[in-house]
Amino acid sequence: MEFFDIAVIGAGAAGMMCAAVAGQRGQRVVLIDHAGRLAEKIRISGGGRCNFTNLQAGPGNYLSANPHFCRSALARYTPRDFLALLKTHRVSWHEKHRGQLFCDHSSESIIDVLKAECDAGSIAWRRPVAVETVRFADGQGFALDTSAGPITARALVVATGGLSIPKIGATDFAYRIAKQFGHKLVETRPALVPMTFSSEEWEPFAALSGISLEVEVATGTKKAEGAFVEDLLFTHRGLSGPGVLQISSYWQSKEAIRINLMPTREPVAELLQAKASARRQVGSLLADWLPARFAHVWLDAQNIRHDTRIAELPDKVLRRLGESLAAWTLVPSGTEGYRKAEVTRGGVDTRELSSATMMSERVGGLFFVGEALDVTGWLGGYNFQWAWASGVAAGLAAAEFVRQARNA
Ligand code: FDA
Repeated sequence: MEFFDIAVIGAGAAGMMCAAVAGQRGQRVVLIDHAGRLAEKIRISGGGRCNFTNLQAGPGNYLSANPHFCRSALARYTPRDFLALLKTHRVSWHEKHRGQLFCDHSSESIIDVLKAECDAGSIAWRRPVAVETVRFADGQGFALDTSAGPITARALVVATGGLSIPKIGATDFAYRIAKQFGHKLVETRPALVPMTFSSEEWEPFAALSGISLEVEVATGTKKAEGAFVEDLLFTHRGLSGPGVLQISSYWQSKEAIRINLMPTREPVAELLQAKASARRQVGSLLADWLPARFAHVWLDAQNIRHDTRIAELPDKVLRRLGESLAAWTLVPSGTEGYRKAEVTRGGVDTRELSSATMMSERVGGLFFVGEALDVTGWLGGYNFQWAWASGVAAGLAAAEFVRQARNA
């Protein structure tokens, strides 16, 4: 039997951050992970450069059944704090787009920073090690049966993430532990995920695979509405690209998505004005505004020959064409699922956790952090910022919990 102050299960973004913070406060911390490779999600993130935070990260960038929960942790550990950490490790970075920060070289540098911080906290690593059972005995803490033998710890942090990309080690472990200790779950589903359509509906557009264009894409209404101006990418089976990934997190099954294919123009007015240049063909005009291949397919779908001169098209037809471009409405049949989802929406219900510490209100010393919780960030570095912020909050609180328990 091995004894520790704190056991952290899951050595991903949130788990490593949490372990490092607690270890550096003098607690004996063990960090357990079942995967062969360390922090694989960090490694593959941001196309290998890890979009590790977003300068604009705030509570409004997260979806949750308890939208204020993330506020406290995000305010106490900000993107600037993470940048200060990177500076001490001399990791260089750049801003790509709308506050999204990426490593200049490789996402490996983020893993190296977290590993070095864990080493500075004298963390005991146990990996690849599987946790088979967890038991709680009041006054003694948590007893873990692992593939490397039994471990006991005064506090337990569950940092095993969500369900996306099972191939690299995602499991429902956090949800099972939450249920075991009487916590509720918010229904989970794939998020930041490409959307798919029935083969009949997609047949006319399948040939556009690879084409990308900036659009405004929206779904839902009122408080549940998500709307983003971002790129959309056609795929063989449906739609992807940042705009579609963003609204996939808001989408409810059977709901429509609405796409304005020309968000910076007034297609109806501009098509009608174009009648003045009478010799212009409609296909060539649309190709000034949109990718040519897309313009042709779109006109086909509207039963308009692309070589028709604009002057020959009645106003009614041009108006309908313009309206179709401004409001393409379609109902996805589904998504590409957890296999392709960047994150999991839903998870451990935060209404029974402290937003300041991430600790369970049911079981003293039990913490949940990161993506396992029902806190889902937008695309653009927000999910890692949540992992860092919730990891730090729990690391500090778990260290304090153990200190007080020792002195009691
Ligand atoms: P994370 O998934 O990082 O770690 C969980 C750990 O627990 C893993 O090491 C796993 O092996 C371990 N584990 C699971 N079950 C276990 C069990 N039963 N026993 C022991 N260990 C177990 N976000 C962002 O902000 N910017 C980005 O650029 C990207 N890019 C990106 C690309 C791709 C392809 C994906 C899939 C995801 C992203 N993300 C992202 C999302 C981001 O990776 C994610 O939100 C965080 O990694 C979540 O951090 P956690 O520490 O909570 O879980």
